[in-house]
Order: sequence, then structure tokens, then C-alpha cells
Amino acid sequence: MTEAIVYERIGDIAVLAAQNPPVNALGIDVRRGLLAGIERAEKEGAGAVLIYGEGRTYFAGADIREFGKPMEEPGLPDLCNRIEAAKLIVVSALHGTALGGGLEVALSSHYRIAVPGAKMGLPEVHLGIIPGAGGTQRLPRVAGTEAALEMITTGRHVAAAEAFDKGVIDRIAEGNPREAGLAYTRELLEQNAPRRPVCDMPAPEPVDFDATYERVLARGRGQLSPAIAVRAVQAACEAPSFLDGVRQERELFMKLMESDQRQGLIHAFFSERAVSKLPELVDVFPRDVAAMGVIGGGTMGAGIATAALLAGLSVVLIERDEAASVAARERIEGNLRGALKRGKISQSQFDAILNETLRLATDYAALSQVDLVVEAVFEDMDVKRDVFAALDEHCKPGAILASNTSYLDINDIAAATSRPSDVIGLHFFSPAHVMKLLEVVVADETAPDVVATGFALGKRLKKTSVRSGVCDGFIGNRIMNSYRKAADYMVLDGASPYQIDKVMTGFGFAMGPFAVADLAGLDIGWAARKRRAPTLDPRERVVHFSDMLCEGGDFGQKTGRGFYVYEEGKRGGTPNPQVAEYIERDQRDQGVTPQIFANDEVLRRYMCAMVNEAAKVVGEGIARRPLDVDMVLLFGYGFPRFWGGPLKWADLQGLDSILKDIRRYAKEDAFFWQPAPLLEQMVAEGRSFDDLNKEAR
Ligand code: 3HC
Ligand code: NAI
Repeated sequence: MTEAIVYERIGDIAVLAAQNPPVNALGIDVRRGLLAGIERAEKEGAGAVLIYGEGRTYFAGADIREFGKPMEEPGLPDLCNRIEAAKLIVVSALHGTALGGGLEVALSSHYRIAVPGAKMGLPEVHLGIIPGAGGTQRLPRVAGTEAALEMITTGRHVAAAEAFDKGVIDRIAEGNPREAGLAYTRELLEQNAPRRPVCDMPAPEPVDFDATYERVLARGRGQLSPAIAVRAVQAACEAPSFLDGVRQERELFMKLMESDQRQGLIHAFFSERAVSKLPELVDVFPRDVAAMGVIGGGTMGAGIATAALLAGLSVVLIERDEAASVAARERIEGNLRGALKRGKISQSQFDAILNETLRLATDYAALSQVDLVVEAVFEDMDVKRDVFAALDEHCKPGAILASNTSYLDINDIAAATSRPSDVIGLHFFSPAHVMKLLEVVVADETAPDVVATGFALGKRLKKTSVRSGVCDGFIGNRIMNSYRKAADYMVLDGASPYQIDKVMTGFGFAMGPFAVADLAGLDIGWAARKRRAPTLDPRERVVHFSDMLCEGGDFGQKTGRGFYVYEEGKRGGTPNPQVAEYIERDQRDQGVTPQIFANDEVLRRYMCAMVNEAAKVVGEGIARRPLDVDMVLLFGYGFPRFWGGPLKWADLQGLDSILKDIRRYAKEDAFFWQPAPLLEQMVAEGRSFDDLNKEAR
């Protein structure tokens, strides 16, 4: 018997306790232990088997680290079939999160009991696969086809009460899983309860699978696994036998296991957990943060304050004057009202936050007791330096002074204070109470415990925090500027903005770059271009069609016109006919002969620009690891998760082919398409970005 499963006889009951921390993943030792436990219980003539998990959870699924490696026997599907075929009754007692293969083991048991806090689900689609140990065959038999389809295609975690209503579990009982499970098993033995294999239940009722498949496919924006899961559930209804259904499920599972999407999603799973683990912070303790200051209550300041308030922090918000204070309060109130509507807070919490936890002021003296301040005033170095000088004067020693600047140099901002080691960048994304990304920007003199506090704050606000060094635009905006330029150049050279948007939504982005620009406001980019114009390198290509739109007063969604025309009450926009005129004028003025771009070429150029800049960002040490870049693009820029991020995508394409294309593009524009030295080095050494990630662990 392996240690991962501890066998114990309590009277007639053979107890199999899983001990594979942290989440009792069903790795090879656990599978062997379960198989041996069932066989031993049968041999010993026990009356029943009880399976439960020690520690924080029942099995949270197959061991994801084994994916992509040869499967060691017994495999999970065979194990589940063997559990179900056991000659004695098998009971599973669930607590924590019974997920994926975990729920499949539970469904192979004859009876299921759960503690009230338990959650269960089949989240495999989020890893680019489908349940592969009979989950798509057994769940519809106990819960019905519609309920199973919903759970499997969304991967949603279902609470015990709902699972009970759906027939997924037989009973809910207070207490710990061992005691509750033993009591239930004894009761079943006393009642002479029969074995109750799900595989013997009648096949579930069919639904319109083709329509469901199409609907789920469209919802996935290019992600395949949820739609493939529909076909597996269809097999549960239509296959000639249960085992044939299991075989069909397995075939679909194996196909997805070999897909790029599976690799991308697993990369995302591990990277989002690795991203906040920094070796230099291992023994560093964050400072306590209970009271926070926010300077500026505009779009960002109000969002940041909302996020902090919802996380239970008290907030003092400083605005320029009374009128601006009132406007800031209204913005925060609006955000909180949204949280109230979605059930995230109660009416009494809403009232308490607005009347007690939030304070607005115009005098910096109100900040004397705050532990951390985030500045979110206008993007102007002189204004920011004045603000930081005032913060230095009024904040207590040890208070952390953070800037939410998008582009400005945190070192210059820190120099306006007498305590640069307490200054850091905390770059939130709009809307700050919704978007998951936080760039923690570490300046030259930022103290390690200040960095640790940035990450701790991010965790408290439920953000994915990524360390960034200081450069123009940090990790995300710097890379975005590069692929946006590639898009602009393609338009100048003949592609249409609408073609590019379509290609990129086809790739999996929720919106294309021109629709995003309309949403963010075209005036922002216009102002940035004007600011940078005097310092432009003469070799840099410049486009003017966006400026022409702005000169005409079209700033995107906020003015109703931009690259698209937006009509009141309608979702999305339709192409703005003036745009084509502006592009033609720009082409004429610059003597450009437009060419036709195939969709593949559009995608390739856009992605090569993204990858090339990302490789520069890693090569320069602005991002520590390729996975840091991947997480920034995933959580801040809508990069499709199933590709794992731009550098995972690059690995999947082959870095040599990417470099070859960049060199080809450089023949047209050597200034923009300068290959990243890191990319050249990696191709020369035959290494991948994944190799770099592994070396950094
Ligand atoms: N396999 C291997 N490692 C896993 C794992 C799994 N299934 N689930 C979690 N872990 C690891 C995490 O990587 C993390 O490791 P780290 O400490 O080294 O970073 C550690 O366990 C703790 O995980 P979390 O930090 O995520 O802990 P939380 O308490 O926040 O969340 C959880 C726990 C809800 C279980 C979450 O980890 C989770 O969602 N896990 C994945 C569950 C899942 O997808 N299961 C299905 C797997 S696929 C499958 O079963 C296929 C089958 O159908 C054949
Ligand atoms: P905004 O214009 O909506 O808000 C700025 C607010 O600061 C205004 O309410 C203004 O009254 C206030 N303010 C100006 N000077 C002040 C002072 N001295 N003291 C107190 N309050 C003052 O601007 P927005 O969009 O919120 O941006 C703020 C900062 O966040 C900028 O640095 C911007 O680059 C950055 N940022 C913006 C993002 C966005 O999507 N809007 C995303 C991430 C960062």
C-alpha cells in the first residue's frame, strides 16, 4: 500500500483516506493506492468502502503535472470502472473541491455524501480537455442531460446544495468528511443498501446536440474543448452501450490532450500561480495595509478605491476641490451599486462603505494615518511630482507611496520624495475594480518589503500581480504600442482596420485593436503621439489617419464615432465610411501603393510584432520570465487564454519560423522590425521560452 492512500478497517468498513497534499490530485500513487484498497477490501470481505480526502479537500482532479507524459497504470478511466464494479458498496465523502477526475471517482462510487461547504464540478474544459474518466457519461445519468451539459461546458463549480438538488450527491451532512462518511456508510450497511453503479442507470434523454454544439462553439470564441464536450455527452445518450460511450469520450479526450489549446491552457494554469512567486521575496514580509489613500478620483482613482473598499480596506480619497470630490464619490457609488446588484455586497455593507469606510478630502493632511497611497492624477510628470512631494510631507514614516502612471518613469517620481525606497508603481487597468491585472513596477531604489506589499495588496484585491521593471509603458503598454503600430502600418499599406479586427477576434480576442481604440478613446493615443512627435527617430514610419479622425472630433465610442459609428441603443458599431477616405489620403500623402493582405499575413505580422517586443521586454529584464509577459497579456489585454499568452504561442509556432518572418518584414522596414536579441539567441541555441521559464523556477 502506498502512503498516498491509507487503508484502515473500522468494523465492516474499509476506509481509504487520501493523503496527497495540497489538493489530493489523483497522481499515480493515489491511483495505485485506491486500486489496491478496493482489491484488499474485497479480499478481506469488508462490507463497504469509504473514500475521503485528508487535508483541505477530496480529490481536486487528475494530476495535471502528469499531462503530456506516458500514462502509468492504472489509468483513471480503468480505475473508475474498477471502483464502480467493486463487489461491495463504495461510498465517497466529499469536502473542499471535488473536481474533474475527483468528481469522476465520486461518480464511480455507489453513494455520495458531502459536507455543506463542498464544491464540485468538471472544470476540464478550462484546461483544454474534457472529462476523460467517464464524467461525461456518468454525470448526465445522475443529473440529466441539460444539467450535465451546463456543468461540463462551463466547468462551473457547483455548491453542495445545488449538487444535491441536481442529484449529483445523495446527502449533505455537517461535520468532517470522515465522520459524516462513516455514519452514512454504517446506515447504508444497516439498511442492506445495494450496490448502485451509475453505469447501470438508463442512458440519459437526448437534446438537440447540433444546436447546442454550435451555441457552445460560438461562446468559446475559438476555444474547442467546451464544444467537443457536447459531443461526448451526446455519446452518453446515443452510444449502444455505456462502455462504448466511455470509449468515445476517451477518443475525444485524447485528441484534445494532444492539442495546442491544451498546452496553452495548462501553461496559463501554472503560470498564473507562478507569477507572484518571486525568489527575492521568499523571506520578505509585507508591511501591514489597513488604510489606503487614493489621489485623484477620476476613472482610475474611483476604480482603485472601489477595489480597495470591496476588499475591506478603508479609503481616504483626495481630490482637487469640492466639485471633483462630489464627482469622485458618485463614480465610486456607481461602481458599488453594480457590486450590490450582482450580490457581491449587501445593502448594509453598501451603506457602511459609503458612509463610514470611504472618506473624501481635499487636504493632504487627511492622509496622515494611511499605510499606502495610490496616486491616479493626470498623466503629467510635473503634476505627479507635486503630488509626491505633498505625500512625502504628509504621510507617516513607512507609508508606501505608489503611482498608477501608465508610462512615466517611477524613478523620476520617486526622486520628488525624500524616501525613494518607499515608492513603487502599482499599475491598475481600467476598470480597476474589474480588471484582474496589476503591474507591480519596481524602481531602482524600491525596498523589497515594499515590493512584497504590492503583491500582498494585489492578492487582497484579487488581482493577478506581475513584477515589471521601469521602462516606457512597462510590460503591457510597451508591448501593446508595438503591435498597435504593426496594425497601423498594415492599414497604411492596404489592410483595412475592419479586416484586422476580424482576424484578431477570429484568433480569440474579444475585440480587435481598432474597436479597442474606439472604446479607450482615440484622443488618448492622439495626445501620446503629439507628445512623442518631437523625439521621434527620423527612421520611424508615422501614420496620420487616426489623427485625421481626432481632428474631426471623432474620439471613438464616447463621441459616437471613431473607426466605427455607434448608434444609440445598438451593441457594437458599423464601419465609419470616412475612415477609408482618411486612409486613402494618408497613403497618397506618403506615396504608398496599397497591397492586399491575406488574413494569415495580418495575423502573422500582428503576432510577430507582439512576440518580438515581448522578447525585448524579457531580454532587457523588464519582465523576469516569459510567463510574466504571458500573464500580463492574458489578464490585461484580452489575449485568448487558450493560446497561453504570446510567448507560449510563439513556442507553439516554433521560434525559428517567427524570427524568419521578422527578418522578412525587416526588408520593408528595418527600423520597426529589428529582431529582439533574445529571440536571435534562443533560435541560435535551439531553446524555447518554456525552457527559460523552467530555468527561472
Ligand atoms: N494537479 C496538480 N497540481 C494541482 C492540481 C492538479 N489537479 N490542482 C492544484 N494543483 C496545485 C497548484 O498548482 C498549486 O501548486 P503550487 O502551490 O506549487 O503553486 C497547489 O496545488 C495549490 O493550488 P491553488 O494555489 O490553486 O490552491 P487553491 O486553494 O486556490 O485552489 C483548486 C484549489 C480549486 C483545487 C485549484 O487548484 C484548481 O482549480 N485546481 C485544478 C482543478 C482541476 O482542473 N481539476 C481537473 C483536472 S483535469 C482532470 O481531472 C482530467 C480527468 O477528467 C481525467
Ligand atoms: P482622469 O482624468 O479620469 O482622472 C484624474 C483625476 O485626478 C481627476 O479627477 C482630477 O480631478 C484628479 N486630479 C488631478 N490633479 C490632482 C491633484 N493634484 N490632486 C488630487 N486630484 C487631482 O484620469 P485617469 O484615466 O483616471 O488616469 C489617472 C492616471 O491613471 C494617469 O496617470 C493614467 O495614465 C493612469 N492610468 C489610466 C488608465 C486608463 O485606462 N484611463 C489605465 C491605467 C493607468
